[in-house]
Amino acid sequence: MIHHILLTTAVIIFATCHKTTLSSPVKGIYWSENQIFPPSSINTSLFTHVYYAFLFPNNLTYALHVSDATASNASLFALIASTAATRASFIHSTIQVSRIFGFDGIDLDWEFPRDSNEMNDLGQLFHEWRLAISADAVATRRPPLLLTAAVYFAVDFFLSSTPPHKYPVDSINQNVDWVNVMSYSLRGPWGNVTGAPSGLFDPGRNISVSFGLQSWIQGGVVPEKVVMGLPLYGMTWQLQDPNVHGIGSDAAGPGPGLNGAMAYFQVVEFNNQSGAKVAYDVETASVYSYSGSSWVGYDDPLTVTVKVAYAQALCLRGYFFWAAGFDTSDWKISTQASRAWILA
Ligand SMILES: *[C@@H]1O[C@H](CO)[C@@H](O)[C@H](O)[C@H]1NC(C)=O
Ligand SMILES: *[C@@H]1O[C@H](CO)[C@@H](O)[C@H](O)[C@H]1NC(C)=O
Ligand SMILES: *[C@@H]1O[C@H](CO)[C@@H](O)[C@H](O)[C@H]1NC(C)=O
Ligand SMILES: *[C@@H]1O[C@H](CO)[C@@H](O)[C@H](O)[C@H]1NC(C)=O
Ligand SMILES: *[C@@H]1O[C@H](CO)[C@@H](O)[C@H](O)[C@H]1NC(C)=O
Ligand SMILES: *[C@@H]1O[C@H](CO)[C@@H](O)[C@H](O)[C@H]1NC(C)=O
Repeated sequence: MIHHILLTTAVIIFATCHKTTLSSPVKGIYWSENQIFPPSSINTSLFTHVYYAFLFPNNLTYALHVSDATASNASLFALIASTAATRASFIHSTIQVSRIFGFDGIDLDWEFPRDSNEMNDLGQLFHEWRLAISADAVATRRPPLLLTAAVYFAVDFFLSSTPPHKYPVDSINQNVDWVNVMSYSLRGPWGNVTGAPSGLFDPGRNISVSFGLQSWIQGGVVPEKVVMGLPLYGMTWQLQDPNVHGIGSDAAGPGPGLNGAMAYFQVVEFNNQSGAKVAYDVETASVYSYSGSSWVGYDDPLTVTVKVAYAQALCLRGYFFWAAGFDTSDWKISTQASRAWILA
């Protein structure tokens, strides 16, 4: 019954948008530097693009520093984007590093520009980056490097207390191949009630995948430059009362897993070993499980199928996952997503 409602919703929307994508679809996955899951373990037949995460700019030269450190520094990106000279150093370095190490493109993960000045600077950075990438393609007689960016779940920061600031949509349309919309981690154990971390819908507050993706399109970015983010992980909470276990139940901090997060394969293990109950929530089109006072909100092959249909209904370019190594060892979600993406 519940499955039927979810799939029907997706099918109806899909029918309104049939003549889609001229460009080939994007099925991406980020691989984050780690010792456990080497890049050679990635089943590359399931993906069109694999992102290496992360390289950081040096804070004196603004050139990429090849290391495995992991934390993005919004202040440093703001500084780099703010003058022509610092932008040039950074851009030059990104192209050089990409060519030396044989990457096909560059993905910017600036989390996040904090005001409209920084958004303008980001637009200027994309513009100069595109010019440099085009010049490099001519000089090297090679296909131009791809230029993409990981971005906030919505086109503007409508939840923030600072004045609303919007991404530079014109510059994105002109200069960027596509944006990877981080439509996940929308809720987590930092909140005091359980919730869908990457719910397709949110009847209460617009903190949803659908609202975010639509804001990108209504905000002016062409749909074929929008790629939907999918989490291969769940968020966990500790229920205040084990008998009150729906979406929006009172919680007292993180549940099982590292800092209240679990890879999808760990959620599957947890469900199996604890005998957790699994429930689909129609209003958010999400899945959760609970056992005792432990509560996990996540995506599974079914919810991902609905999201992929939704993304195609909006004529989006594709989807991407965070992150490699979090799916089951037989790639259940990644395989399902790849199959669900119907070629136009
Ligand atoms: C990789 O995925 C493809 C497509 O689903 C599948 O046919 C193949 O068996 C997978 N390979 C491995 C090693 O999992
Ligand atoms: C650059 O980073 C180093 C190491 O994190 C720090 O000690 C130094 O103060 C930073 N310098 C600038 C100019 O931000
Ligand atoms: C981030 O970069 C800014 C500008 O270089 C620097 O002042 C700040 O110390 C850095 N913060 C961290 C955590 O490295
Ligand atoms: C939970 O958080 C909301 C919003 O931050 C706040 O209004 C509410 O009082 C909090 N409830 C509890 C039980 O802490
Ligand atoms: C959600 O977004 C819609 C459309 O922008 C708006 O009309 C509505 O007021 C928003 N709801 C909330 C709770 O912010
Ligand atoms: C579930 O757990 C049992 C024992 O705890 C184990 O034998 C079985 O292989 C597990 N199944 C899956 C799908 O993990």
